[in-house]
Amino acid sequence: MHETRLFYTPVWRDDLDVPESNWTLRRELMLNRITALAAEGLGVQKTNFGGWQSPDDLYRYPEFQWLIGRVMALGNEIAPAFSAKQRFDDGILWANVNRRGDFNAVHTHPDAVLSGVVYLKAERREQGVIQFFDAREGSPTAQWRCYMDLKDGTPLTDFVHEVEPREGCILFFPGWLKHWVTPNTTDSERVSVSFNIRLS
Ligand SMILES: [Fe+2]
Repeated sequence: MHETRLFYTPVWRDDLDVPESNWTLRRELMLNRITALAAEGLGVQKTNFGGWQSPDDLYRYPEFQWLIGRVMALGNEIAPAFSAKQRFDDGILWANVNRRGDFNAVHTHPDAVLSGVVYLKAERREQGVIQFFDAREGSPTAQWRCYMDLKDGTPLTDFVHEVEPREGCILFFPGWLKHWVTPNTTDSERVSVSFNIRLS
């Protein structure tokens, strides 16, 4: 029987820590800049409960130029799925530092077509995982679970999808996709850089 998939919800992932990227050095430079900004007290309060979130203008700093290039290049591989212009050409990025007990509340990125995150410091899942929630109205499969024994682990029946952070990994997802970051239950900080990509 033929199946038509309506309204799918993609999450894309790739690795930035490939041998030719000089990742180890670039990562260290980005982390140093984030540490310096945090020490200056330049932070904002948005989705973070506890923790530290930088202003969304990291593009001002030379340490992030390479990352911006990678984000836009990978974003533009996805762009034809979204954009009549076939290109994204505008965006913002900011850093997140979650220490013990810190988390990011459930949110979307309503002012972005495409959003994402890069992990700079994340050794294990206890530092916090990102969980995406079923984008369908009212999470129907979450409700059905009250009445019937559903299969687990399929795109049709799942209502939450979790991605463990891994240093050097980059995720992209539509800005409308609801997500949160679970609390860091360790004494090791978790550092990531988030971004929003738009059409100008
Ligand atoms: Fe987010």
